[in-house]
Formats: sequence, C-alpha cells, structure tokens
Amino acid sequence: MAERFKAHAWKACILEMESWVRIPSSLQKNNYINKNQIMYNSRISGLGMYVPENIVTNDDLSKIMDTSNEWIIERTGIKERRHIKKGDGNSTVVMGVKAAKVAIERAGIDKDDIDLILFATLSPDYYFPGSGVLAQEELDIPTCPAMDIRNQCSGFIYAISTADQFIKSGMYKNILVIGSENHSGGLDFTTRGRGVSVIFGDGAGAAVVTREEDLSKGILSSHLHSEGKHAEELSLIGPSTNRWVPEILEANDPDDISYYPYMNGQLVFKNAVVRFSEVIMEGLNHNDLKPDQIDMLIPHQANLRISQFVQKKFGLSDDQVYNNIQKYGNTTAGSIPIALTEAWQEGKIKSGDIIVLAAFGSGFTWGSTIIKW
Ligand code: UT7
Repeated sequence: MAERFKAHAWKACILEMESWVRIPSSLQKNNYINKNQIMYNSRISGLGMYVPENIVTNDDLSKIMDTSNEWIIERTGIKERRHIKKGDGNSTVVMGVKAAKVAIERAGIDKDDIDLILFATLSPDYYFPGSGVLAQEELDIPTCPAMDIRNQCSGFIYAISTADQFIKSGMYKNILVIGSENHSGGLDFTTRGRGVSVIFGDGAGAAVVTREEDLSKGILSSHLHSEGKHAEELSLIGPSTNRWVPEILEANDPDDISYYPYMNGQLVFKNAVVRFSEVIMEGLNHNDLKPDQIDMLIPHQANLRISQFVQKKFGLSDDQVYNNIQKYGNTTAGSIPIALTEAWQEGKIKSGDIIVLAAFGSGFTWGSTIIKW
C-alpha cells in the first residue's frame, strides 16, 4: 500500500475509537464444532474475478455532481471504479458467472462437479427468483441446489461459512460461491446522492470450495454476527413489499429518495472499525493465533481508512494487508473475492499462509474467516 492520505480530523476520531475495540466475553465463548468431530475440512481450490471494462474516475463523477477527486481520495482512498455500461451485456448474474467460470477452471473440476451454488448479492437480477438459479442456468448445470445469501458487504463471508459447514458435515464436495454486484444501475448520481454513489462500484468474484481431507489446512473457522437494530442505517427501503410497485407508480415522484440506497456514513464507519477489529481478534483467538502470524488480511473494501485503521490496530505491515479499493471502489459482496483473487494472482498467497478475511456492512452484519492456505 504505497499511498497514504491525510489523517484530517479523522485522526482524533480514530484515536478515540481505538479505545472502543474490546472483545465482549460473550464472543470469546467457544460455541464451535469440536475439532475432533470434524471428518473433512474445506479449502478454496479455485478463484476468479470479473469487473466491467468501463472505468469511471473521480473526475468523471465530478462532472455530474458536486464532488471532487480530492474529496473522494481523502475520505475513501478511491480513485476509480467500474460501472456496467448499458448494452455491454453485463448484469449481476452475468458478471458472477464470468468470475465463476474462471474459478471452476482453476479448481480443475468440471461444472457438473458442483454440488451447490451460493450466490451473495444485494443487487439481484430479478426480485425473484434468486440469482443462484440464474447463474446455474448460465453455467448450464442442469440440477443442483442453488441459494442466495443476502448479507450485503458480509455476503461473501456468510456464503463461505455456509459452504464450509456443508463440506465439514460431509454433505457436499464442491461448492461454488459467487459474490457479485451491479450497483451503478441503482445509485443516485446527483449531488443529493454523492455521499453514497461515489463509493460503490460493480464487479464479481467467485471461489470454489472443495473437500479437503488433510485437517491441518483449509478453512479453519468463520465467525458471523449481526445487529438488526441498525438495519435502516445502511439500506434500500423502497421499492420493496413495504412500498410495492403499484404504490410507487401511483406516487410517480422522481424526487423520492427511498428509491436509492441510504447510508448513515459516520455511524457505519464507527461501527465498522470496532466490529472489524473484534471479529478478526475473535477468529485469531479461536485458532490460537497472534496478529503477527497473519500472512495476509483481506478486508472488505469499504473505505481505505477503515483498512488502515485495522492494519494499525493489529500492527500489520503494508505487505500483510491487501487493498484494491483504489481501483474498484466498494463492490459489496464482490469485494473480498475480487481482492482475494487479485492477491492470489499476484503471488501474494502461498501454501501454508494464514489468510484472514473480514467484512462489515449493512444489517449491520459482520464476520471473519481464518484460512490456512
Ligand atoms: O461497505 C459498507 C460499509 N460502508 C462503509 O463502511 C462506509 C463508511 N462510511 C464512510 O466511509 C464515510 O462516512 C463516507 C466516505 C461515506 C463519508 O465520509 P465522511 O467523512 O463521513 O463525510 P460526511 O458524510 O460526514 O460528510 C462531510 C461533508 C458533508 O458536507 P457538510 O455538511 O460538512 O457541508 C457532505 O455533504 O462532505 C459532504 N460530502 C461530499 N462532498 C464532496 C458527502 N459526500 C461528498 C462527496 N463529495 N462525494
């Protein structure tokens, strides 16, 4: 991570938040499967990613709303993001399938070896059915279970954890996990929406999770949390069954902001730094690991300042944390698998490494996954 941006007034805020990061005793309880009972482990056997070709820079955005390259870089670290271009054929499912095909090939399996598809997204192609079955059809897999995971920025961690449980139980051998988002189609690109729309980008990542008989390696554990009291602090309320389409059509109000995502940015930021730190610590404690044993931390790419806070909290070097938010913005469920794929492609992940994945986002939901690669 070559660049750093000004600490600004955030420095004082971050220093204060450092003192909040404590692991509640309830999170330290060991409620997990007894390791002696596990028959199989699971490992990530293939990774893939896809982002649309269309690059949208901060300067491009400043032509359509009151924002600036300086503001966006200073507050978020983002320089550019990818947006689907009308007519380029991409959608959440199409991008997810492009990433999935690469992951399947790299896993060295055939598509028909997939026992289960887990699709994490907050921007599905259809209201229903879910994106999992659409991906299944695109992949030409005649029948297998397919399930959508709706946990926003934590979606990939929830999906990986679900895959891990199905493999550890002995039920399935190969599970395709996809995280994909088409944000650009639903953002408010006027000055009114600038607090949200400059952050998010489109893209997809995928992983094949495979049965591993060597219990000393693979996914060691995942740790999941939610706190529904903050559900509306980062949300898209209408359209929904709360505000069904006939009602929206009747109102015919182009200025209705409920059509767009809402984010209480500062509250989300403050909770993110605390929860990221807690859940990483929880994962390390569970596996008797110390922060200096982390070979690579891949945080959900929400804001470069959040990643830098976590890096500092755990005393990690630049080589121990992977960030690519500068290029892609926040791709929600796509962000961890995209970052994990790039880190792997760049040779930054090696056999035997301790890899930590961590996410926080809408719900609020958060989680971590600890992997011995
Ligand atoms: O992935 C899900 C999790 N999401 C996150 O983790 C995001 C967490 N939150 C954040 O990253 C930050 O809160 C943001 C980057 C979203 C916003 O940064 P901030 O420093 O919290 O800004 P703010 O919302 O407090 O707004 C500060 C000022 C306001 O102007 P006034 O009222 O001080 O005059 C905003 O209107 O900045 C203004 N502003 C902008 N100015 C230029 C907000 N968005 C923009 C913009 N360009 N894009």
